[in-house]
Amino acid sequence: MPTPQKSKKTAKKPAGKSAKNALAAKADRYELYGLSVQSSGHEISFFEKIYQHHFGRSPLVLREDFCGTHAVAAAWVKSDPKRVAVGVDLDPEPVWWGREHNQLTDEEADRLTLTRGNVLSTPTQKAEILAAENFSYCIFKTREALRAYFKAARKNLAKNGLFVMDLMGGGDCHFEDQEDTRAIRYPADGQLNAGRKDKLKRFTYVWRQEEFNPITHDALFHIHFRFPDGSEMKNAFTYDWRLWTVPEIRELLLEAGFKQVDVWWDTEVADEDNNPVYAPATDGIPHAAWLCYVVAR
Ligand SMILES: C[S@@+](CC[C@H](N)C(=O)[O-])C[C@H]1O[C@@H](n2cnc3c(N)ncnc32)[C@H](O)[C@@H]1O
Repeated sequence: MPTPQKSKKTAKKPAGKSAKNALAAKADRYELYGLSVQSSGHEISFFEKIYQHHFGRSPLVLREDFCGTHAVAAAWVKSDPKRVAVGVDLDPEPVWWGREHNQLTDEEADRLTLTRGNVLSTPTQKAEILAAENFSYCIFKTREALRAYFKAARKNLAKNGLFVMDLMGGGDCHFEDQEDTRAIRYPADGQLNAGRKDKLKRFTYVWRQEEFNPITHDALFHIHFRFPDGSEMKNAFTYDWRLWTVPEIRELLLEAGFKQVDVWWDTEVADEDNNPVYAPATDGIPHAAWLCYVVAR
């Protein structure tokens, strides 16, 4: 089974500074990842919305597969004292990081179970929402492997349960040597960086598509972080994935025994927090880069 490559992160030295003092050398890649990629509040609102849509009530039990720093599971238990969450990941390092930094009270931590294990073979409490996000299931590169994961996910779902995945696509994903950059500023009120002493107040998140094979849809991505002093954390994270298409995902979910598979597509309308609003759709605008959710019941 393919797994994401371990990052070979290297800090590029800025001109005229010792490597030790460079912002890249002092930065914490999991913190930067969280600030750049995670939007747990938005994810939880989305889970709430799809669960209300299907079952007319609020969900209480979440399982976060490929949970890593488990930002979503942590936000879930914080969001309601009746909610419980399970996180599953193979790699203890990001899970440990999350334990140290997610700032849960003891009571909240008691409602969160973190399990080191393979998502294919780690049964847990049956979930009302099972989330596989940040495209992590793309490590499964064959139909057999992905179908086996979907079957395992189905077994971990409650009868009234929804399996939720995010998916990206569009013509822009079919190139090589492509970089998408975004300037990230720390929120004024701190959050994770509250009270920090160093100068890490802003940085650039770089999503780099290194390779794309149009025959297999194998795609190699890196995340780099660049800093105002000219230093860079290269290959902070590396992902060796297959870029699956929406119809392939839908067909494999049905083959794995799911009865209903909906695609929630960007409505092009933003909510009051400027987040995109998604709704079930059977047709979508073929933007050069898009993100959607697949929800299976
Ligand atoms: C794209 S990252 C997701 C990170 C996560 N969202 C976070 O906040 O840290 C993919 C994660 O999947 C985990 N992973 C890869 N293969 C796995 C498997 N078969 N079972 C469980 N976890 C796996 C990796 O260890 C990694 O933490």
